[in-house]
Amino acid sequence: MPTQALFSTLVYTAALQKSRVREFNGRLERECRQLAMDDGTGRRWSAKNYPGGFTSYGSQARMHTLSPTFAALEARLNTHVGRYAAQLDLNLKGRRLSMTDCWVNIMPRNVVHTLHLHPLATISGTYYVRTPTGSAGLKLEDPRLERFMAAPPRKATARKCNRSWVTIPAVGGAVVLFESWLRHEVPPNPSASERISISFNYSWF
Ligand code: NI
Repeated sequence: MPTQALFSTLVYTAALQKSRVREFNGRLERECRQLAMDDGTGRRWSAKNYPGGFTSYGSQARMHTLSPTFAALEARLNTHVGRYAAQLDLNLKGRRLSMTDCWVNIMPRNVVHTLHLHPLATISGTYYVRTPTGSAGLKLEDPRLERFMAAPPRKATARKCNRSWVTIPAVGGAVVLFESWLRHEVPPNPSASERISISFNYSWF
């Protein structure tokens, strides 16, 4: 075909590690739940900004500096972020791309995380700790959407690369990485059981 794909939006998904996932996620889950019990400031912040759920985004957003378990997660994520940055052809000379934020999200049934981006970061992502069957995925939006003036809708059968929204399934033990300017949301969690994830930012500036 005489067409080429330009201005790619690359999204990275991989298993965090090859073995001992259950054990590692068990430790992370215990710490996430303990944090939700201990972090009164976070619970108050969540009541206003994350109704029905718990996030430590507004209170404990540097978990990798507080907990050896989260520091171990950071070390494993560094490898994936390095691979992803290489795929993006980022020129990272002179500064280190490093984790600046890392926080916990606990979503019971029907809790949403509305459409947003991470404007002060370079690469953002999520690691899935606990994803009961039917858990909501991560819905990504075509970053060119606001420029699609008079553009016809896409066919229901459109290839993934041509869709306006793509949902990445939430899978326990998996890491998802995207560039921080990419808008995303978590639709209402339909699962009766809690979905637990850890989100993070890597910054270069
Ligand atoms: Ni986000």
